[in-house]
Amino acid sequence: MSALPGSPEAAATTGLDDSPVLPAPADLPPLTEQTRLEAREIIARYPKARSALLPMLHLVQSYQGYVSPEGVTLCAEELGLTKAEVGAVATFYTMYKRRPTGRHLVSVCTNTLCSVLGGQRIMDALSADLGVHHDETAADGSVTLEHAECLAACDYAPVVTVDYEFYDQQDVASARELVAALRRGEKPLPTRGAPLTDFRGISRQLAGFSQYGDADAARAAIDAPGALEPTLAGLRLAVERGESAPAMPAGTPSEPEDQGEPRETVRPSGRTGETPEKEAGDARVAAADNPAERAGAAQAHPDAGAEYGRGRPPGGLDQQGTDTPAGTEPGTEAQGPATHPRATPGSGKA
Ligand code: FES
Repeated sequence: MSALPGSPEAAATTGLDDSPVLPAPADLPPLTEQTRLEAREIIARYPKARSALLPMLHLVQSYQGYVSPEGVTLCAEELGLTKAEVGAVATFYTMYKRRPTGRHLVSVCTNTLCSVLGGQRIMDALSADLGVHHDETAADGSVTLEHAECLAACDYAPVVTVDYEFYDQQDVASARELVAALRRGEKPLPTRGAPLTDFRGISRQLAGFSQYGDADAARAAIDAPGALEPTLAGLRLAVERGESAPAMPAGTPSEPEDQGEPRETVRPSGRTGETPEKEAGDARVAAADNPAERAGAAQAHPDAGAEYGRGRPPGGLDQQGTDTPAGTEPGTEAQGPATHPRATPGSGKA
């Protein structure tokens, strides 16, 4: 029998009561006219005002660290919704917080793959170090800890995110070191993607505003490298072994004619006597700007299985793809980013 919402039994089970949001702390900075102007800027992006609610809730979090009662009121007033309607949305998604969040939000994936590789052990260790459970904040306000469902990075399991930036292939020791660095005020470099900021900064980014002080910092974050090696390991093996997806069965509806580049924009390959389809296939392979896209274009090429399908695609994966040594099976300790080694907290910038 499930406990009634709001009952002591339910709170003990979920850690939450039935309030949509908690009362505001006494020291919470108020939302300002600037917040309201930015909310209206978000609303103006959408044909229907209520479509702006999700980024507006992130905007509230960027100022107050959670969806406060004041933030719910502001969203309701600006969108012409009831506070109950806003609260219903804010309490549905786990990215909207009902309690003030620490400077950083540490999320530990405890879903199946991460868990069997140590995710739950990481969660337990961090919980002990911080003296908190799921969705609670350390007494010094530095870190809010939560367990998370699949963070869509199973190939890098076990995964921890800080303010939604990825720290891949963690173990108990590295995760402990990471959190200790955060508590010292450091910002260890994520394994891939943009540099770490903080929960309020990333909330502002999610609201659609830059969290960076200048264009160079924003550009550096956008251009930050992504480590794709584990993601591409299976594809590389398939290419090496000459494996490809089976042909579509007869009678499968063909792709819409408007897919792909318009023929007039297809760059010629320089080879003669090819059909327009092969010309287009060549151009797509040549235009691919990353190994995954290139491999996909090669697989879709009319010559797949001959020139492209059984060999390496032009500029092939052996040059730009995974660095997993040949013969090393995925899922072993040897698999993992070679050019972007696991971030070490001491290497980050404060
Ligand atoms: S199970 Fe952890 S990222 Fe998918």
